Amino acid sequence: MIPATHSGFLWTLLPALFFNLRTAAAPTDGTPSAASFYVPQLPDLHQNDSNPLHIYAGHLPSDPDAVDAPATQLTAHLYFVLIKARRTADKERILFWFNGGPGCSSFDGLMMEVGPWRVDGKGGLQRVEGGWEEYTTMVYIDQPAGTGFSYAPSNKYLHELPEASRHMLQFMKNFYDVFPEYRQMDTYLGGESYAGQYIPYFANAILDSDLNIPLRGAAIGNGWMDGMTQYPAYLDYAVKHGIVEENSEDYKRGKEATDQCMNKLKGYTDVYPVHDSFCEGLLGTVIEGKTQMMDGKLKCLNMYDVRLYDTSPECGMNWPPDLPAIYTYLRRKDVVRAIHATNAATQWDECRSKIHINFSTRHSNSSITVIPRVLERIPVMLFAGDQDFICNYMGIESMIQSMTWNGDTGLGTVQTQSWTVGGAPAGTWVSSRNLTYVKIFNASHMAGYDVPHVSHDMILRFMGVNFTALTDGSVRIPSAVGSDSKPLPALLDEEPAPTSPAKTPEQDKARWEAYYNAGSAALVLVLIAVAIGGFLWWRSRRNRLTGLPGSTDNDFTEEHIPLTQNGDSHDRQDDGYSQRKGKQRQRDFTPKEEIFRTIFFGAAFALSHVLQTVEPALPCTVSPLGLTGQALSLQNKALRARSSKKAGKSL
Ligand SMILES: *[C@@H]1O[C@H](CO)[C@@H](O)[C@H](O)[C@H]1NC(C)=O
Ligand SMILES: *[C@@H]1O[C@H](CO)[C@@H](O)[C@H](O)[C@H]1NC(C)=O
Ligand SMILES: *[C@@H]1O[C@H](CO)[C@@H](O)[C@H](O)[C@H]1NC(C)=O
Ligand SMILES: *[C@@H]1O[C@H](CO)[C@@H](O)[C@H](O)[C@H]1NC(C)=O
Ligand SMILES: *[C@@H]1O[C@H](CO)[C@@H](O)[C@H](O)[C@H]1NC(C)=O
Ligand SMILES: *[C@@H]1O[C@H](CO)[C@@H](O)[C@H](O)[C@H]1NC(C)=O
Repeated sequence: MIPATHSGFLWTLLPALFFNLRTAAAPTDGTPSAASFYVPQLPDLHQNDSNPLHIYAGHLPSDPDAVDAPATQLTAHLYFVLIKARRTADKERILFWFNGGPGCSSFDGLMMEVGPWRVDGKGGLQRVEGGWEEYTTMVYIDQPAGTGFSYAPSNKYLHELPEASRHMLQFMKNFYDVFPEYRQMDTYLGGESYAGQYIPYFANAILDSDLNIPLRGAAIGNGWMDGMTQYPAYLDYAVKHGIVEENSEDYKRGKEATDQCMNKLKGYTDVYPVHDSFCEGLLGTVIEGKTQMMDGKLKCLNMYDVRLYDTSPECGMNWPPDLPAIYTYLRRKDVVRAIHATNAATQWDECRSKIHINFSTRHSNSSITVIPRVLERIPVMLFAGDQDFICNYMGIESMIQSMTWNGDTGLGTVQTQSWTVGGAPAGTWVSSRNLTYVKIFNASHMAGYDVPHVSHDMILRFMGVNFTALTDGSVRIPSAVGSDSKPLPALLDEEPAPTSPAKTPEQDKARWEAYYNAGSAALVLVLIAVAIGGFLWWRSRRNRLTGLPGSTDNDFTEEHIPLTQNGDSHDRQDDGYSQRKGKQRQRDFTPKEEIFRTIFFGAAFALSHVLQTVEPALPCTVSPLGLTGQALSLQNKALRARSSKKAGKSL
């Protein structure tokens, strides 16, 4: 043991020494002591004294080629916010979170999705339950350099994914020098959208590096991983969800553009492309028919949540409604000081177009080519809010079925299971050869925004948290994947007669759990009855309709989603789905005006598409499909944004 301890000591000490020298020479880097990153309080965050948050935040250098840069030289620095786990789980874990874009800040995740607070509508922040910091230390990182509060010299913006990975490794080396206690902790990467590119690259780079940290898994929500399968899913999703009618004019236009996009993608010979400027226009082309006058305004479908509309031409870029308050808060001088962000070059922006445009990844292979190498070594979870359009679940399913990993292609014959949280259907769950795919019901591109407790249950399950070992906090919310129910603390047995008068909060909780359990039991009985009835009906109908076994089969299965959906449902989506079914699905959507969802990468992505369309050399300007009325007005807007040097996502 002595040699191990000894070398461990050296490993932590040597870089720390270098770091000290470096930062001593460059005082603007801040000091390397963890204490110097501590955030004792956040302005207008109404803290909970019984359970205060422990926050660390600041900048760390990330340019591996500028380690010896003179103190006077400006070098790339990434910005992070660390929030310590609030409760002790069965073991300690740390998760690094990334939002997408490229060029969008991880404050989206922190302030709207998986973090401990939301804006309170009064200029401050309110604590909320459901944040992932409950049992896991969370680190939200603004990258690539120049995103959010991070910064880089303007001639040194990043362009490619391997380059971003090198910066991430350098950042992490520095991070562990400051916080060596996290080096041995079970480590995860998580994020969404364009982080579907970052995360596989980062995971692979970490696993190949000498960082020597226990990376245990990676989770990607509504990720962009493969244009080849995800671009065509725009039309597939639109048809399945009743946004476009099959064989309508809109459909034909969408189909033609999809075919052109596929031809474009096949034309790349040097790389397997991350995206293509013509294909970026597909999203707008497919949902264009939904643009209409509503309440006296021209509105279009929200690309992050198809249940919602936004004004045209923003189509989701104004959403979610928390954003204006977040801008105001993060641009306050006292806030910027409190979170050690004063070195940032500019005010906070959610998404920054110049970072987005520079990060063109023209020479990077899309992450679908990297994920299999990651899956050989660690589990990966792909999850998808089912109401998102821009990185929709159908594209992700199609990407999974086309990918070869750990000796086979696609999920194979594994069974998709139902997943319930708090007694209500939460989604479906399936795992195969280290890959887990989770579809989340009634959730947008920013799943955590809509269903925080469901998302939290998901990450706890993915991280293999031993629920039996925990008695406190949100692990008490019942949940189950298939027959694998979360063991609940033995409170129910201890509960006295249900008529007892004044109930303690614990008893109330137990009572609700009993209701959940009784409710689930009743639901199961009803479903069994429905299943038997349905089967008998189907059999009798099949006996009569001998010619159409396929379509009756589809109907049967469709009615039993989510409870009996199985792995080969992905293949079924390639079969024709009738318009009728599409419309039925659409009626299922409850238009809940109060439920707003958000996110991130699409806005910048869409904007960049628009910016790209104005470059005369790019193919979509010459394409008859490229410049629709909507695209033109988007273009004008983008030009305005550009000339006024505004952020990528103008609000
Ligand atoms: C503080 O946190 C505890 C435990 O999470 C909770 O029971 C209590 O209601 C919270 N108090 C406030 C003022 O939010
Ligand atoms: C991309 O993938 C192709 C095919 O595997 C490979 O030949 C090429 O070297 C890769 N390019 C980069 C930049 O990794
Ligand atoms: C980054 O993008 C800006 C346009 O916003 C451009 O002027 C600049 O040259 C780009 N930088 C690099 C290094 O490509
Ligand atoms: C899956 O991940 C584990 C680590 O969790 C690894 O040991 C194993 O080799 C991976 N591959 C397969 C096929 O399960
Ligand atoms: C949530 O999604 C499920 C499955 O798609 C659906 O049956 C249910 O009606 C939805 N619930 C709400 C409140 O929208
Ligand atoms: C989970 O925790 C319980 C209670 O601490 C323990 O008895 C059990 O062995 C643990 N299970 C695993 C798989 O570690």
